[in-house]
Amino acid sequence: MSFSLRGKIAVIAFGITFLGAMSLGADFIRQPYLGFGDEPGGMVVSWKTDVPVKAVVYYDLADNFSSTGELGLSLEVPAEAADEDSIYHVELKGLEPNTAYSYKVILGDGVESPVGTFWTSSFDLDHFVFTVYGDTRTFPERHRMVVEAMAADRPRFVVHTGDLVENGGVEDQWDSRFFWATAPLIKDAPYLTVLGNHENNAPEYYEAFALPRGGGDYGEEWWSMDYGVVHLVGLDTNALTLPNGFGRMIKQVNWLKQDLAAARNRGARFIFVFFHHPLFSSSAGYYPGNEGLRAVWHPIFVQYGVTAVFSGHCHSYERLVEDGIVYIVTGGGGAPLGGFRSEPVPGSVKRLSALHYIRVTIDGGKAELEMIPVARVEGEKVVPMEHSPWDSLELHSR
Ligand SMILES: [Fe+2]
Repeated sequence: MSFSLRGKIAVIAFGITFLGAMSLGADFIRQPYLGFGDEPGGMVVSWKTDVPVKAVVYYDLADNFSSTGELGLSLEVPAEAADEDSIYHVELKGLEPNTAYSYKVILGDGVESPVGTFWTSSFDLDHFVFTVYGDTRTFPERHRMVVEAMAADRPRFVVHTGDLVENGGVEDQWDSRFFWATAPLIKDAPYLTVLGNHENNAPEYYEAFALPRGGGDYGEEWWSMDYGVVHLVGLDTNALTLPNGFGRMIKQVNWLKQDLAAARNRGARFIFVFFHHPLFSSSAGYYPGNEGLRAVWHPIFVQYGVTAVFSGHCHSYERLVEDGIVYIVTGGGGAPLGGFRSEPVPGSVKRLSALHYIRVTIDGGKAELEMIPVARVEGEKVVPMEHSPWDSLELHSR
């Protein structure tokens, strides 16, 4: 009897010690993911832990890693480098242009991330693939299906057209839904995004991502960058609804004109613009698109020869052409799918209600845009579709 009691006490004591040891060890809440950050050519590795903890980012040329299994370069990150939510953003600098690198993050007490592999850009890079999608907020499992399809393309980067989560101010929606769904892709492909209405312009959005510099809140409410011969611009269609909305929108428009003029002067071969609410739409819920923004932005896109514009908000796919500008609505990333008016807007070319993404292939002076279907949704049933292009078009550089 007494032996049995001692045994029980020993088991309980062991359990307490074991749980104590477990709770002391920091772990990832978000596995490492990538962003472009402020410095051209730099790559930002981000992660989130349950408690602040020091870490080391190990990285090396992907070729070295595949031949030796070693990551020879390292960057130490002190525990205090995190923000108050234990989110870390660490920029790797001095990387070779147009080169593949592998990396991993090891936390202070030995917890190790998977190895990711990314490519850097170069000034004149004109052969690469990137992907675009949007409106992922409701069903993480459907979002993950789209993510896995995109990951198979090994895109150089990914752009999201907004409404990433149901409510941008709820940290757990990012942790357990968004970053769970994007994990297979975002460790290898830097993530660019714009604000949807569901992000609510929340600090959690800005804290999550390393975005290029631009303007507005945190200097990242709108942004731009070059990737090889392509100029990328992200805008905020919610600006008018935010505090000092009118002044904010005037700032954004002035910035946009200067940014597009500078890109043209640098000789950008393609200009792609991304924002959430479409200017033109045949969707049942947002017909005929945002006419107020259209009156201001569309003439600017025409004036500066924007190649194509990508939006979301409508949970479907639509391709339109207006005055020579291609408008793609890509909102099929996991939110409940929506339908169309029986009479589409005049510039509408193709429409489909399906989970999907857009694959953009830059090939010298050509850019091929392909709509890749992932699944249909029938009631609650998700029916996978073959990932072969349902719509495609070829655009030429100026
Ligand atoms: Fe939206």
